[in-house]
Amino acid sequence: MMKTILITGGAGFIGSHVVRRFVRNYPQYKIVNLDKLTYAGNLANLKDIEKEPNYEFIRADIVAAELIKKIFQKYRFDGVIHLAAESHVDRSIANPTEFIYTNIVGTVNLLNAAREIWDNMDGKRFYHISTDEVYGSLGETGLFVETTPYDPRSPYSASKASSDHLVRAYFHTYKLPMVISNCSNNYGPFQFPEKLIPLVINNIRNNKLIPVYGKGENIRDWLYVEDHAEAIDRIFHAGINGETYNIGGINEWKNIDLLKLLCSIMDTKLRRTAGTAEHLITYVKDRAGHDLRYAIDSSKLQNELKWKPSTRFEEGLEKTVDWYLANEEWMKNITSGDYQKYYDNQYNKR
Ligand code: NAD
Ligand code: DAU
Repeated sequence: MMKTILITGGAGFIGSHVVRRFVRNYPQYKIVNLDKLTYAGNLANLKDIEKEPNYEFIRADIVAAELIKKIFQKYRFDGVIHLAAESHVDRSIANPTEFIYTNIVGTVNLLNAAREIWDNMDGKRFYHISTDEVYGSLGETGLFVETTPYDPRSPYSASKASSDHLVRAYFHTYKLPMVISNCSNNYGPFQFPEKLIPLVINNIRNNKLIPVYGKGENIRDWLYVEDHAEAIDRIFHAGINGETYNIGGINEWKNIDLLKLLCSIMDTKLRRTAGTAEHLITYVKDRAGHDLRYAIDSSKLQNELKWKPSTRFEEGLEKTVDWYLANEEWMKNITSGDYQKYYDNQYNKR
């Protein structure tokens, strides 16, 4: 049977990989990508699939409740994969309000619209994509599990935590069929260069400084974006309603160690003398409330749904560098306009 699936935020980094995977792997689905095209949304991320017969794009803001209801009434979606969000922690520190509107109010608007059209909930599913940052910050040891109490510490993570609670509340109150996944740091092609890895690749390419917050000792668990898209596919199709699944890379790196590895890959790729990029490392003022460590235990997903990350970090990082170096035009387009203003604001203050 033909199903119509709504993917929100499909013009962003992770969303574009999810849209591509679903359009290609599921010709029996019609995939509708709904995106506001903020600074982070970019239709160039989907050039290769935009003409596929089972793909459609709608430009819309999830905060516009009436418009969202009309879109749901028109398309009668069978499933929703909700990725649209304001996603950058530093931006949430500078201006939290937009995060409240999009991440909380926008999510509630989608939940209300789904509830309204789904008289019969059989076979329907609302899948909310979330982050490991809702669990707060770890010390030297331990891992986040699905039952770790929420302790969000930035406006971004507080807004995501709030939307997670609302999605669960709609399951318990209205029996809205939902699943949630909380994932660690993604990297790979099409990531906006405000996030650490693409920002640093772009800076090294242009001989600009590599800004390391604080002492560079914070730890993140990195996952290749296509492995995340595969996990999302698995959870959407086989997850149990009402459940939460943690997704992680089993791949913890101290920021400074990751940056040194990236520097050495970049020196090789750019045929520069070993050590050239490392000279660009500059310690700058720390992020306010900077969480020390995130690390995910994804054994529930591995055991119950048989997913595990398949891309080794060194391999994924090299593929990522190759992609950015081969797509300078994409980077130029994205860093023209307001990007320079954002960059100067962020980094001149540090
Ligand atoms: P991104 O910033 O690259 O993309 C977000 C997309 O949402 C953009 O296309 C943007 O135009 C769209 N959008 C923003 N506000 C909107 C609105 N009001 N209405 C409609 N569309 C809107 O984000 P990403 O890094 O791809 O993250 C996607 C999702 O995954 C987010 O929900 C994020 O919280 C979550 N997540 C991200 C990571 C990560 O490492 N990037 C890790 C775990 C979870
Ligand atoms: O853990 C999942 C989260 O990962 C997602 O929910 C977020 O959407 C995503 O942005 C990401 O959040 P982080 O804050 O961990 O990612 P970011 O790339 O901004 O930073 C990664 C680490 O690098 C963090 O410890 C801060 C540090 N950093 C970041 C930048 C941009 C620097 O040292 N220098 C920088 O210039």
